[in-house]
Amino acid sequence: MKREPVLKIGNLTVRYPKAKTDALSEIDLELYEGEFVCVLGKSGAGKSTLIRCLNGLQMPTVGHVFYNGNDITVYGEEQLRKVRTDMGMIFQHFNLIPRLSVLQNVLTGTFGRRQDWKNILGFFTKGERSNALDFINEVELGDQVRKRVEHLSGGQKQRVAIARALIQKPKVFLGDEPVASLDPGTANRIFRILGKIHEEHKLLTLINVHDVTIAKRYATRILALKEGSLVFDGKAEELTDDILAEIYDERT
Ligand SMILES: Nc1ncnc2c1ncn2[C@@H]1O[C@H](COP(=O)(O)OP(=O)(O)OP(=O)(O)O)[C@@H](O)[C@H]1O
Ligand SMILES: [Mg+2]
Repeated sequence: MKREPVLKIGNLTVRYPKAKTDALSEIDLELYEGEFVCVLGKSGAGKSTLIRCLNGLQMPTVGHVFYNGNDITVYGEEQLRKVRTDMGMIFQHFNLIPRLSVLQNVLTGTFGRRQDWKNILGFFTKGERSNALDFINEVELGDQVRKRVEHLSGGQKQRVAIARALIQKPKVFLGDEPVASLDPGTANRIFRILGKIHEEHKLLTLINVHDVTIAKRYATRILALKEGSLVFDGKAEELTDDILAEIYDERT
């Protein structure tokens, strides 16, 4: 039986208003369950734009995005919200609520699935709390549960963001430079956690990274964007120094 892609994009092109060139240009891509994809590319190459197209935060100018065979570019806000509850997303700047505790921040990850009237903190069931604690343990923050997020380190905050993204039991995990500005040891630790969770939850994971070493170490598939075009799609061992020089314009 042929495996169907979880996400498929066809001829995806994005041009922002008033821009003279495309931020993304005619991208075709099929992404499958179990793939751990890292996306490389210089600043401005279109990595964030691609991620935002995959979960419907950005609509393409031309082309389509299919999630489980359904074209989400024709969806309205309500349908897109449902799609997004299937997709855990972590941002570079975490988007956490600084004054709330680790536990409360992770619990806010359930909002997408709840009725609005229940979205008041303190209104969580025992089951939801224990579920949140499981994920907090999974990202190795079990000893920080009651601490306010504003008092955590960058790497700890990032792990809170991961737990918050996971609590909604996503099928797709999207990360926009989740380890930028972290030291290499912490960045590797977070990727190890992401890799473990990726395996356990049988996800499709797609992460934008600047760090080539990390991409080579953890990705099952590497993509590279250059000026909005997809210039590499392959395995770590196929990503030669020559190709890297081309991606990052390091040729002299
Ligand atoms: N909201 C926007 N309005 C107009 N132009 C935008 C907008 N967002 C991004 N762009 C432009 O689109 C191009 C791609 O940007 P994008 O943020 O996708 O790059 P990136 O690869 O994520 O870069 P970085 O590594 O710096 O995060 C850039 O030229 C950028 O200036
Ligand atoms: Mg970006």
